Amino acid sequence: MKVGFIQTNPEFGRVKENTNNIIEKLKEIDADLIVLPELFNIGYNFKDKEELLNYAETANGETAIALQRVAREKDICIVAGIAEKDENKDIVYNSAIMVTKDKINVYRKTHLFDNEKKIFEPGNTGFNVFGYKNAKIGMMICFDWVFPEAARTLALKNCDIIAHPANLVLSYCPETMKTRAIENGVFTITCNRFGKEKGLDFIGMSQITDTKGNILYRASEDKEEIKVVEINIEEARSKSMTKNNHLFEDRRTEMYEL
Ligand code: ACM
Repeated sequence: MKVGFIQTNPEFGRVKENTNNIIEKLKEIDADLIVLPELFNIGYNFKDKEELLNYAETANGETAIALQRVAREKDICIVAGIAEKDENKDIVYNSAIMVTKDKINVYRKTHLFDNEKKIFEPGNTGFNVFGYKNAKIGMMICFDWVFPEAARTLALKNCDIIAHPANLVLSYCPETMKTRAIENGVFTITCNRFGKEKGLDFIGMSQITDTKGNILYRASEDKEEIKVVEINIEEARSKSMTKNNHLFEDRRTEMYEL
């Protein structure tokens, strides 16, 4: 399976330009799964909920439809971060949509970071796994990386690949994602943005790891990059560490009670 990411520097509020930039690149890519940054089409640092609402869309809005057009043309799966407006209320989730030719699945960010708490609603989807071709794909978003329970929940639901759109400002996430891969025996694809926006510096360094935590590719800190690697999904199906140790069967949940 060919999987990868497009690391970009979204221009604040320029939805059409940001989306078209990605669409043109997707048209040229030979891949099965491509991950895009968190809030890939609108930027990140919104001053308040009102400003954010101007840019929020439903999970089957214009941006999703544009991505699905490419997903159909190329038979590709795209995981993209968007500001998702609730159909009926003026509330916004920091969401990832998984777009395939015939379906749009949604994950709403569970662990909001810093000022996000003032403008987004905490996610209510939980962590779910969706099939695509022969892979099981789970989504988490940026700051979810610091909570091991996020990746663990996906892994316990038989996830093979964690698709992880991000707008990282803390530099130790890429190293931590190696551990998330090892402790769960999963591939991870973190797609981060780079650049500066209203006082925030984003770190780039998008990254793909294998199930043993090896870095298959780590991007630069400051450049637009497209990267696709070939992975063998079967590597995520064996959770044996030694002939006597199994990542999940050796868990002793009775010892973890508080
Ligand atoms: C983050 O969760 N966007 C840092």
